[in-house]
Amino acid sequence: MKKKVIVLTGAGISAESGISTFRDSDGLWEQYRVEDVATHEAYLRNPELVLNFYNERRRQLFQVKPNEGHRQLVRLEERYDVHIITQNIDNLHEQAGSTNVLHLHGELTKARSDRNDNLIIDIGDRDIHLGDKAPDGAQLRPHIVWFGEAVPNIEPAAVLCEQADYFIVVGTSMNVYPAAGLIHYVPRSTPCYLVDPKAVPISRPITIFQEKAGTGVKKVVDALLSE
Ligand code: APR
Repeated sequence: MKKKVIVLTGAGISAESGISTFRDSDGLWEQYRVEDVATHEAYLRNPELVLNFYNERRRQLFQVKPNEGHRQLVRLEERYDVHIITQNIDNLHEQAGSTNVLHLHGELTKARSDRNDNLIIDIGDRDIHLGDKAPDGAQLRPHIVWFGEAVPNIEPAAVLCEQADYFIVVGTSMNVYPAAGLIHYVPRSTPCYLVDPKAVPISRPITIFQEKAGTGVKKVVDALLSE
């Protein structure tokens, strides 16, 4: 049986594709306030502003491509059972060709009913406007986990982390919970790797590649493929 590699990714892996991260100096949360665009309260207060924020993100996604970091993770599938747990709402891992991608914070290319969280539809590159209806007649909302909302995929993600033979973290500041807590489910004996140009606080032994995903992920992948 193939050994399992679990990869936790954040905004940093998509940075070299041209998508801004959130907390770097040129990050999205420098331009917008979380409370204005990324909470359910914001959506109730000013749905158009929130819909437009995600319409913008979606339009941008359709102008960019996966980068070397995404592509290198696909190579790992030659030898390993690879599962990517991503905090990203873009689909660049899928576009690069990764098979198993679990989205913790939702997906830009999907929308769901305001009334029924399980009624999810593919919208591709289409904008969502006020008045756009789900099949049940309710307003469509972005299929995004906003701050303060539950993270339905955290449980399957934790199970994957418990099964990790190798664990890789790429491009996340580890600021947002419960995603940042997933590392605590990884067995103590599991070798862990981190790729990030900044120092990220992680309280366990971990091999650090302090560089961008475009070069750093290849180093980790080469190491694992030569084991
Ligand atoms: N390669 C790798 N990492 C990079 C690169 C790069 N080219 N450029 C920046 N980074 C790193 C930064 O150093 C930082 O550690 O990516 C990380 C980005 O951190 P955040 O902006 O906080 O993004 P993330 O950790 O994914 O945020 C988590 O917060 O607002 C929410 O829901 C949003 O999913 C997101 C969550």
